[in-house]
Amino acid sequence: MLVDHTRMSQNLQRMQAAATARGLRLRPHAKTHKSVALAQRQIADGAMGICCAKLGEAEIMAAGGVDDIRLPYPLNPINADRVIDLLERTRISFIVDNLDVAAGWSAAIAAAGRSVDVLVKVDVGFHRCGIDPDAANAVDFIVRVAEMPGLRFRGLLSHAGHGYGATSEAEIDAIARAEAAILTTLAARVRERGVEVAEISVGATPTSRYSLQQRGLTELRPGNYIYYDRTQVALGAASWNDCALTVLARVVAKPAEDRLILDSGSKTLTNDIARGFVPTPGHGAVLDSIDGVQAPDDDLRIERLSEEHAVVRVRSGQHGLRPGDFVRVIPNHACVVSNLVDSVWMVDGMDVGEPVHVSARGRIT
Ligand SMILES: Cc1ncc(COP(=O)(O)O)c(C=O)c1O
Repeated sequence: MLVDHTRMSQNLQRMQAAATARGLRLRPHAKTHKSVALAQRQIADGAMGICCAKLGEAEIMAAGGVDDIRLPYPLNPINADRVIDLLERTRISFIVDNLDVAAGWSAAIAAAGRSVDVLVKVDVGFHRCGIDPDAANAVDFIVRVAEMPGLRFRGLLSHAGHGYGATSEAEIDAIARAEAAILTTLAARVRERGVEVAEISVGATPTSRYSLQQRGLTELRPGNYIYYDRTQVALGAASWNDCALTVLARVVAKPAEDRLILDSGSKTLTNDIARGFVPTPGHGAVLDSIDGVQAPDDDLRIERLSEEHAVVRVRSGQHGLRPGDFVRVIPNHACVVSNLVDSVWMVDGMDVGEPVHVSARGRIT
């Protein structure tokens, strides 16, 4: 896995500059790179901290000196000891969306004589986690959380993951607008009850460019934008030249003129499909050269994956690639691809730099 240093740096700086210009704090989700070194780079560029999903990732990041970590993930209080331990070393915040779970956290944290920052997760249409903002008890839920000992209520948080299913720019724009409207309306109702809502946090790479235009938000949490990928290009969030992570694959066989085999199977590219405004078939985009300007070779389609083989169909029936040649592939979904290797290699054009340790990879608990 190669990461083009210049492209990555531009991605980081562009998002940071856009957030800063709008008065938003940037808190990147580290799920995409899972690397202490790259988290530190984001913080050096101006991010106020990072997000992790799992406590195991947060433990690695805290050990690496990251001092402000948010987990927009439904943690269970069975993990209270780990959170209390982390609180000794770093600032931690996480989400709640269930009263029993919140009460469990309150009891455990208060019993330890500590307090922890929490945000209430709001379902803005992805229908994964979060309270229903239209439920009759939505405001009561938030007020009750804010009253719980041991919990410091910070605000509201959402993830518009349904933006990945959008079929047009207008739909992504509408999702970002609706998300901001839902959160700011709910925050106003909570404030009417005398509860401070200090933060309103949103974050997903496809919607970020439209979330930047909304009022009342305080924090943006994109993750994928550090590398981008084929899905982000197909959703209008990036160009091919923004894609910083590529897989360097070798042609290992050419059983027929119209069929090539690459050494990047599902254990490299993963089986994640690409999403986008139009159907985007195949398991990644094979680039038409291994250096310089990035453009997909439309003659090549990665049609099928086995664990260690990628079966590429040559659509024209003939191609100059031979066994032994290298190609570069932009994966459908960079976050799951980088999680498969111990290190990614920094490159600048064709110059190979240092490996960067994917230090929190595989930390799934
Ligand atoms: C809760 C939450 N916040 C932020 C993100 C970052 O979104 P993206 O991967 O679109 O950058 C994710 C991604 O899964 C997420 O689950």
